[in-house]
Amino acid sequence: MSLIKTGPILSGGVAAGEGLKKALGMTRSEIITEIRESGLKGRGGAGFPTGTKWNLAAAARGEHKYVVCNADEGEPGTFKDRVLLTDYADLVFEGMTIAGRAVGSHVGILYLRGEYRYLLGHLEAVLAKRRADGLLGKGIQGKEGFDFDIEIRMGSGAYVCGEETALIESLEGNRGEPRNRPPFPVDTGYLGNPTTVNNVETLVLATAILAKGAPWFKAIGTDKSTGSKLFSVSGDCERPGVYEFPMGLTIAELLKEVGGEGAKAVQVGGASGTCVPASLFGQTLAFEGVPTGGSIIVFGPQRDMLHVAKNFMEFFVEESCGQCTPCRYGNVALLQGIEELEGGRCSVAHLKELMALGESMQLSSKCGLGQSSPNAFMSIIKHFSDEILGRALPA
Ligand SMILES: Cc1cc2nc3c(=O)[nH]c(=O)nc-3n(C[C@H](O)[C@H](O)[C@H](O)COP(=O)(O)O)c2cc1C
Ligand code: SF4
Repeated sequence: MSLIKTGPILSGGVAAGEGLKKALGMTRSEIITEIRESGLKGRGGAGFPTGTKWNLAAAARGEHKYVVCNADEGEPGTFKDRVLLTDYADLVFEGMTIAGRAVGSHVGILYLRGEYRYLLGHLEAVLAKRRADGLLGKGIQGKEGFDFDIEIRMGSGAYVCGEETALIESLEGNRGEPRNRPPFPVDTGYLGNPTTVNNVETLVLATAILAKGAPWFKAIGTDKSTGSKLFSVSGDCERPGVYEFPMGLTIAELLKEVGGEGAKAVQVGGASGTCVPASLFGQTLAFEGVPTGGSIIVFGPQRDMLHVAKNFMEFFVEESCGQCTPCRYGNVALLQGIEELEGGRCSVAHLKELMALGESMQLSSKCGLGQSSPNAFMSIIKHFSDEILGRALPA
């Protein structure tokens, strides 16, 4: 699959080497200031300001520093990083190299989703060409002391390894289980060293910002959500695929573009995101609106929303690493509740208990997986109460 629609950034024609050459004419702190002024926020889901992350990593003390590209894309309904790795790999590696220059690192690691192994040959070929062109290796572009190279490591198929500390555990050869935070990876990451973890799309955008400048980037999107966003669109629409739109478009506008106007609901942000009913399609896709890592799943009028919730909960029961009780037990309890609803054995009172359990999971789970896994269930119960409560036994 390739991009169905490029938007203001990807159609801007950023050439390989353009961003890096600009960066090499700047000091490390000037690069970080450029990224800060662009307002770029991470595209991996959490929306952390990239300039702040790079600044913390630059200031962190450590004998070695690492730059990690998180290419473990495993959120159900998300496939936009795959397109970037296929068609824009140069810009991904260039973003890592610019990050390396900014934070003072010599080693980049791209952690590639296990199911994307078929991209390995292509990615290695792009890396080899960049080495041959003097864009990687020792003394990059004649800049003495700036040595940076990138290796690719394969993930092995666990969704939780996309969480940055689980990813680092996996890189170290351990079971992919999230760590306590703090300490954060920018201080204590891979092998105990300062590690900057960024999403594939974030790194592409960082390259574009260096090439075209922060003011150009800031002019796209909204005040709080600058730039554009890639969306992986699937489900009940006429034109599923990957689209680039400026941040801040409404869900209704997106549905019009993809031929999904008749939708009854849209799951924004994948399984860990939130289910938005048609009455709220005027909301914007932005950090200040409905935030998203980029997954949009469209549900037509014929969809059974309880079945949708069940599908997501089955995924989380399977993918919970089991390390903490709220997530290990909570996901199973929510799935059991759905099965009881299906069988006409769940009371309204029990459903309320399950909603309270979901809130506890959001508050007390150790990592983002358990903190967000009840979101779909809870938003479906809230927004589709007519459809769901009709199947519950009276309290
Ligand atoms: C369960 C889970 C899975 C995640 N999967 C990914 C992923 O596949 N890719 C990604 O970039 N971030 C993922 N994240 C977010 C990362 O932990 C981290 O915030 C991100 O890589 C930081 O990059 P950014 O600042 O560029 O967004 C995941 C988080 C959680 C809790
Ligand atoms: S929230 Fe879930 S995935 Fe995260 S550490 Fe706890 S059990 Fe593991």
